[in-house]
Amino acid sequence: MDEARLHDFMGKLVGDMGAAATLANVILGDELGLYRAMADSLPTTPEALAEKTGCHPRLVREWLCAQAASGYMVHDKGRFVLPEEQAMALALEDSPAYMAGGAAVVAALFHDKDKLVAAMRGDGGLAWGDHHPCMFSGTERFFRPGYRTFLVAEWLPALEGVVAKLQSGAKVADVGCGHGASTLVMAQAFPASTFIGYDYHGPSIAIANMRAREAGLAGRVSFQQASAKDYPGHDHDLVCFFDCLHDMGDPVGAAKHAYRALKADGTVMLVEPYAEDSLEGNLTPVGRLFYAASTFICTPNSLSQEVGLGLGAQAGEARLRAVFEEAGFNRFRRATQTPFNLILEARK
Ligand SMILES: C[S@@+](CC[C@H](N)C(=O)[O-])C[C@H]1O[C@@H](n2cnc3c(N)ncnc32)[C@H](O)[C@@H]1O
Repeated sequence: MDEARLHDFMGKLVGDMGAAATLANVILGDELGLYRAMADSLPTTPEALAEKTGCHPRLVREWLCAQAASGYMVHDKGRFVLPEEQAMALALEDSPAYMAGGAAVVAALFHDKDKLVAAMRGDGGLAWGDHHPCMFSGTERFFRPGYRTFLVAEWLPALEGVVAKLQSGAKVADVGCGHGASTLVMAQAFPASTFIGYDYHGPSIAIANMRAREAGLAGRVSFQQASAKDYPGHDHDLVCFFDCLHDMGDPVGAAKHAYRALKADGTVMLVEPYAEDSLEGNLTPVGRLFYAASTFICTPNSLSQEVGLGLGAQAGEARLRAVFEEAGFNRFRRATQTPFNLILEARK
């Protein structure tokens, strides 16, 4: 036993426990509007923030101290500041760096611990729809800033000839669409095109249709409950999978169905979590987050469905290519990437 190494590891664990407890405090600040009330980055006292948000001043002071200890706020002589950069990540939902929504996804892991214990001792399956409700809204809020920032500006232009088709009027399926954040971003940008989102989780489809009505897009965008292997149509120009193919029990079956759903010159856009092809390559902060989430979410969801391939969130490009080759696609390439996502293109 090396005492110095033990000491280092204890330090790491204290950091990790502090991070987990801090995330619970992030959820409080998000829900109570504490971050939004400080988004102007002006110094505030606990009493003024409590007054502004209608919260208890003693608890607000404790929360602010926790924020300062976490490096989320700056403290000076009894006043606290949320720096502009932290405001982008924690307060401003339209900012590309907004991440507070992701805290709700992590919260769902704790809520669902007993279900995972049962899955691990049982057949490994836990379906998407059996998670705590904060999983669904958290996923929408976590992914939407990325779609708003990259999807129209970078990801679609990285695909061969797709933007021109969308501009002149294309038919698009968004498979495993969840609350439809990606579908609505595309629909807003391409008014000549028609978009249909499919997901096997009925309550998500109901929310997605509500979002389409709220956005005034219900005429051109619709959402229907269907699995990745049974949605209708053979005339799509573009079939998209946003962060969902690896969650499916039968990704090859889903890719084969996409093949049938596409026109001869159609395109699959596959957006997956960023991953290298080897475990060693994924021993990174991003890989850590994705493997941990995949243990609770993606892999048990896949194991709950037929075939139960269990790709996991860190499948990587080579494994995903094999899925599409097995499904009959002739062309497969990495179109672009971000620190969080691989954007892959498959064609017949
Ligand atoms: C991580 S969420 C991503 C949701 C959405 N694409 C987004 O980016 O916000 C995965 C989605 O895949 C859906 N899903 C999983 N297996 C499916 C299947 N076999 N057929 C259709 N949808 C499926 C789930 O219901 C869930 O909405």
